[in-house]
Order: sequence, then C-alpha cells, then structure tokens
Amino acid sequence: MTKLKLAPSILSADFAHINVQLESITKAGANYLHLDVMDGHFVPNISIGIPVIESLRKETDLIFDVHLMIANPKAYIQRFAQAGSDVITFHVESCWDSNEVSEVIDLIKSMGKKAGIALKPGTDVQSIYEFIEYIDMVLLMSVNPGFGGQNFIKKSLGRAGRLRDYADSKGIALDIEMDGGINLDNVCDVLNAGVNVVVVGSGIFGEDDIFGATQKFINIFEEYK
Ligand code: DX5
Ligand code: ZN
Repeated sequence: MTKLKLAPSILSADFAHINVQLESITKAGANYLHLDVMDGHFVPNISIGIPVIESLRKETDLIFDVHLMIANPKAYIQRFAQAGSDVITFHVESCWDSNEVSEVIDLIKSMGKKAGIALKPGTDVQSIYEFIEYIDMVLLMSVNPGFGGQNFIKKSLGRAGRLRDYADSKGIALDIEMDGGINLDNVCDVLNAGVNVVVVGSGIFGEDDIFGATQKFINIFEEYK
C-alpha cells in the first residue's frame, strides 16, 4: 500500500489567520496542503492564484498539492511551478485531446514537479489509463468541482477501486487522491477503496478546533494498516 497522506484544503480556511491555521494542521501531522485554484471559467467559482501560493510558500514546509481547476492549464504551469508548487494536478477535461494532456504532463515534469491528472465525477476513469505510467497521481473528484462543503458522491468509491486495481495490475505505485465531501464518517470507506491521499476541506478548516480535527484523521490513518 502506498503511504497515506492527509491533504487539508485551504478553500475553507480563514485567510486572515492562515499562519495559525497552518501551524495547527502541521503540528497535528498533516503532510500536504491542498490548494484549490479556480478561475470562474472551468468551474463556477473563483479562489486563490499564483501570488497567494508564492506568499504561503514562505510560511510553511508542507508539500503544496496544487489542484488547478482552470481552463488552458498549459499556459500557467510554469508560473505555478515557480510559485512553489510541489505536485501540480490539472483536469483532463480542461485539455482538448490526449496530445495536450501529454504536453501538460511533460511541462510539469520539465519543471521538476510531480504531475497529477484530475477527473470530475462524471468522467470515465479509463480515459486516463494511457497516462498513468507517466504521472505521479490521479485525483478523483468525489463532488462536482467548484465548492467546498458538498455531499460525497458514493459511486466515487467504485471508481477508486477500479483505478487502484488497474494500477496494481500494471505494477504502478500510483498515488490516488480523493477530493470532496470527505469526513470522519466516510474516510475509512475512502481508504478501503484504495485511496491514499485524502483531501479534507470543511471537515478540518470548518471546525473550531482545527488541530483536533486534523489529529482525528491522522489517528485513523495511523491505525489503518
Ligand atoms: C472542490 C475542491 C475541494 C474542496 C473540498 O472543488 O476541489 O478541494 O475544498 O472541500 P470539502 O472537504 O469541504 O468537500
Ligand atoms: Zn481540490
């Protein structure tokens, strides 16, 4: 089993107190920081972008897991890489064709970063099988992208299971990330499905006790062997 990682999503964070909040998740054992970039075009919402990532980079050593929900990702990869991203994930639906998907992967790799492909809940998982030997991670959305705090789409579990089986059958130690609607009640189902990178937004940053909320997920991960 690939290592379990918790990726708190700052979409639900209080940006006026971000330093304290980052310290809480770090002390509680989070490994990644999930950064949702939305352009108001690929998704019907606008969030953070390059300057915020640059500023945060100076404040924390957490691994920056940047989820691009933007049109034309190719045009921005270099700037997101330079801003301090560690893993850059773009949506397969934001590319015209397979050639463009390959070009974006190559661009991310040429910047020395890890590459991920994200899929909306309705996109066929098989559509990215041809790329998995060239990438580090697949992000399966378990809500429709755009907003935090939505309900988990249960059929996402079967999608993760099929992808994990396929990756295993090819001998590829793929990171599979799930994003959207994950909470303490369903996180074990998510892990059982073969997911090893878990995004939690409102379930951590929406809680009064951010340290405690993070720790509860980490404890589950530690007991999950
Ligand atoms: C949704 C984002 C998610 C979001 C998850 O488009 O990609 O990362 O922040 O938030 P929760 O955990 O609240 O569903
Ligand atoms: Zn996300």
